[in-house]
Amino acid sequence: MRTPIIAANWKMNKTIAEAIAFMEAFTPAVADLTGVEAVICPPFTALAAVGAKLGGIRPAFPSGAKLAMSSENAARVALGAQNMAKEAQGAFTGEISATMLKEVGVTYVVLGHSERRTLYAETDELVGAKVKAAFDAGLTPILCVGETLEEREDGLTDSVNKRQTLAGLAGLTADQVAKTVIAYEPVWAIGTGKNCGSGDANTTIGAIRAVVAEAYGQSIADQVRIQYGGSVKPNNIAEYMGQEHIDGALVGGAALEAASFAQICQGAKA
Ligand code: PGA
Repeated sequence: MRTPIIAANWKMNKTIAEAIAFMEAFTPAVADLTGVEAVICPPFTALAAVGAKLGGIRPAFPSGAKLAMSSENAARVALGAQNMAKEAQGAFTGEISATMLKEVGVTYVVLGHSERRTLYAETDELVGAKVKAAFDAGLTPILCVGETLEEREDGLTDSVNKRQTLAGLAGLTADQVAKTVIAYEPVWAIGTGKNCGSGDANTTIGAIRAVVAEAYGQSIADQVRIQYGGSVKPNNIAEYMGQEHIDGALVGGAALEAASFAQICQGAKA
């Protein structure tokens, strides 16, 4: 049985003050949430503040820099980042390493989001190296894959997802593959309000699971959680969660408002 996982990708939105206000509204709204894992992925600058609200600052801050903690939801709501460097440290101006993320309580990291691939030229190989670096530092990657509209119209959906999935998982142990979260996000459905139909998404995600099974075996593939992402809203989450292969959602726009994201998390309950 795969535990559903719903992740909020805030992208480049929210100041620290706005992030705290979100958490103050969100935390009570999911106080009774069970059987669903929620992940909040703020911009880097708000990670520590959101982590403190989650009680998620696990490795202690250097003394004197400890933030106020709350123990509410420590187990059910996790902290995620939206990107990281493939390198562990060094002369990489402007980059953030997996260890730095871990220090502020991050446990998940979104890698290979289509905005990173298209706007920042991230290649399949780079994304794969980041996925491996995330595991090396003890983080769990959320590996994003998905076809553009043009690729879909050219009948390339499954081959694009296969290529991105295999490159993203390359170099991992079978155990790491089993722990990886994959987010299938058709690029044409992201931020457009044109969500992919739930049956269609299930078929494509089933094909991604089959790719994992072919490469790593069925029992590994059965453990991998695969999310759907692209215009998920409170009113369509249930349809997705009702599908065999869909284990959660990666949510952008509808995760910016606490009540809306809480409804999506509640809607993912089995
Ligand atoms: P959206 O974004 O929910 O606004 O479509 C999803 C994402 O980019 O992860």
